[in-house]
Amino acid sequence: MQFNVNPSAVGKATLTVPGDKSVSHRALMLASIANGRSDITGFLAGEDCLATLAAMRAMGVSIQHNAPTEMSIEGAGLHGLRKPQDALDLGNSGTAMRLMSGLLCGQRFASRLTGDESLTGRPMQRVITPLGQMGAVIDSTEGRPPLTVHGNFPLAAIDYDMPIASAQVKSAVLLAGLYATGTTSVTEPAVSRDHTERMLGSMGVRVGKSINRTSLDGQQELRGCHIQVPADLSSAAFVILAALIADNADILIKNVGVNPTRIGVINILQGMGGDISLENPQLLGQEPVADIRVRSSRLDGGPVAPGLVSLAIDEFPVLFVAAAAASGKTEFSGIGELRVKESDRISAMAEGLRIIGIRVDESADGAVVHGGQFSGGNVDSHGDHRVAMSLAIAGTIASDPVIVRDVDAVDTSFPGFAACMTSIGADIESSTERQL
Ligand code: S3P
Repeated sequence: MQFNVNPSAVGKATLTVPGDKSVSHRALMLASIANGRSDITGFLAGEDCLATLAAMRAMGVSIQHNAPTEMSIEGAGLHGLRKPQDALDLGNSGTAMRLMSGLLCGQRFASRLTGDESLTGRPMQRVITPLGQMGAVIDSTEGRPPLTVHGNFPLAAIDYDMPIASAQVKSAVLLAGLYATGTTSVTEPAVSRDHTERMLGSMGVRVGKSINRTSLDGQQELRGCHIQVPADLSSAAFVILAALIADNADILIKNVGVNPTRIGVINILQGMGGDISLENPQLLGQEPVADIRVRSSRLDGGPVAPGLVSLAIDEFPVLFVAAAAASGKTEFSGIGELRVKESDRISAMAEGLRIIGIRVDESADGAVVHGGQFSGGNVDSHGDHRVAMSLAIAGTIASDPVIVRDVDAVDTSFPGFAACMTSIGADIESSTERQL
């Protein structure tokens, strides 16, 4: 599929966006190993989370998927998962692969984890190393999937100093820590999203937390509960961007997760002059949510504080477009992790923006984006959902039509993206891909 984007008039609207991907994955995994029933509402029925759902079912967990965003899970308990008959296909999802590695290495069976072309190219040594220190044996192809996880119970607790800030690695170690003897701790070099810790807490697990050190005692039972998944700030970010760069927009996005470990994108865009405010703040279970109001704004470039990188890790494609629409130049540094996401996001965004007339100077772990006028063009998402959506939003303020190729992966995180954007006035239509 491709997006055909025409210059648009994003206007006034109130809307919601789909559920949080990170929270939906965790809800499925933690509810599956809890005791008793969990009801999940607001679930993201995107391909990534549906792959996790299928994997949990393949290990014998009873999941009633009552409506696209609602399900009930009869927890199998810490030791109730069963050996899957076949390899677990985790599609495009790095989160599923890394968290599942942690969950499965303390089981009494072996399992095989695989995925699509993008996922099988992504680095897994970052989880293999700490899980190996806990006594897990994980086979890979030079640190890449497919993985064979040989279960080993009980694991040994470790005190792990993570070399990179990664919520996926932290979560994998904590999940494995549930199957360890003793106290497992993870220290991270910068704060990363803490959904695992919050959800474990709401399921009765005692989790110790200082700013960047998290610990838990092994073999604590989880209690099933009601998990309300907030709307995904990472999806809302596309709506925020579309509104900010439009001429006359005033948009309210309801009930969005605004966990402090995720709001880097808001802070960075506000720092660039974006008129964004949080209204009606409340708690949805353990997760803070708010309505986000965004109005069109004049954006100014400048250096982006490296301290905000891990708090905005998935929003750099959006931020690159904001920078390209801003006056002056915006300097991103310390973003080397973007090169090992669903695509090499620094080079994919630089390529796409250059095609529509923007100068981007790339370095190994950064980029300088020079603000300018967007022309039309034919750009490639490199099969990356966030690159596809970011370039589509750029097209709404281009002088001529923009075509974004290879956009099927958008369904991994934001099913209904084109329709949602159309509802706020963006002229984005999807069609089958035409040969060049
Ligand atoms: C995620 C963590 C982030 C993020 C990913 C989802 C998670 O990865 O990029 O999309 O759900 O834990 P890292 O924390 O490994 O950078």
